[in-house]
Amino acid sequence: MKILVTGGAGYIGSHTTLALLEAGYEVVVLDNLCNSSDAALHAVEAICGKSARMIRGDVCDRALLDRIFREQRIDAVLHFAGLKAVGESVRKPLDYYENNVGGSITLCQAMAAAGVFRLVFSSSATVYGEPEQMPIREDFPTGIPTNPYGQSKLIVENVLRDLSQAEPRWRIALLRYFNPIGAHHSGHMGEDPNGIPNNLLPYISQVAVGSLPELSIFGDDYPTIDGTGVRDYIHVVDLADGHLKALQSIAERPGIHTWNLGTGDGYSVMQVLQAFEQASGRAVPYRVMPRRSGDIAESWADASKAAKELGWKATRSLQDMVTDTWRWQSNHPRGYLQ
Ligand code: NAD
Ligand code: UFG
Repeated sequence: MKILVTGGAGYIGSHTTLALLEAGYEVVVLDNLCNSSDAALHAVEAICGKSARMIRGDVCDRALLDRIFREQRIDAVLHFAGLKAVGESVRKPLDYYENNVGGSITLCQAMAAAGVFRLVFSSSATVYGEPEQMPIREDFPTGIPTNPYGQSKLIVENVLRDLSQAEPRWRIALLRYFNPIGAHHSGHMGEDPNGIPNNLLPYISQVAVGSLPELSIFGDDYPTIDGTGVRDYIHVVDLADGHLKALQSIAERPGIHTWNLGTGDGYSVMQVLQAFEQASGRAVPYRVMPRRSGDIAESWADASKAAKELGWKATRSLQDMVTDTWRWQSNHPRGYLQ
């Protein structure tokens, strides 16, 4: 089977490309490298001895997509390509709607024209907004995302739902990721954010390696175990495996399906920080700051639907996640540049 992986040079896309190649799939990556470099794909090749075909280009480029579908005999698409920085999305909403919504629509148009109807979409737990209870199940109502990034994910989910109603040949998986962290256990692939990281783990690991002076903890007065925010962190390699299971599952299942990809466990910022310090043997200085606007107190998944329907469960612990993050960050203090 040949899979088109949009955004395949990025953090989650590159780990999934590796998992696909290891499982015997052929992979074509389409990425404009706006938030990545092809170094991640070189690492994939070094690890598994197989390579994906890399096409540098934009998912908004219909002519390019038509050419790829004409020339490559694609069976299914994993669609990771998009912009993901919440704060930037507030400043540049049009870029987010163009890339994330426009890109997804153009991709679906090209897929339909080529007769390719299997799609796995990278959605996010952000579509739930601020749920009233935990853990979060897929049948909870979606919320009102507080930023254009979150809106763009919810809009694409709704577009895909309408599409599947209108055309029964579509087989679509909406995968709602919780908080992906960690790195490949080789220590040669991992998250390599541009500029100052927005997310907790890359921030902690850049402080530990000496690139940033201290961590800001955004709020210690939440109604949680120790007052800091609680999230469901999931190892990126478990997440990648979830994509393979979803791909196999939609081959048997017409229609559109939603699956949470999380572990089902929540950890606080403090707990993550302590686990990281233990794994790295480094003290990570921090300062408690006011809450970050738009953050919720806690979020963790009910992951039982994916377990039952996909036969998938995250297997890696928080300890594994922070240990692998540290291995990557200490091997590559400046990311793929080094
Ligand atoms: P990433 O930025 O590392 O990867 C995205 C890739 O898409 C990058 O390589 C980028 O160059 C590429 N890209 C962006 N716009 C493109 C376009 N118009 N055409 C072609 N390529 C384009 O991000 P990631 O963390 O790997 O996230 C992958 C997907 O998962 C995204 O859709 C993101 O919104 C979603 N997601 C991520 C998280 C997270 O915390 N990392 C959580 C929930 C959902
Ligand atoms: N946090 C800090 N300091 C930091 C960064 C984060 O204290 O420097 C805290 C946050 O306040 C939150 C927790 O760490 O309590 C996790 O924050 P992240 O920014 O790592 O993750 P979020 O849960 O805010 O959001 C992430 C992605 C979103 C996605 C969401 C759900 O950034 O794109 O997970 O999948 F929508």
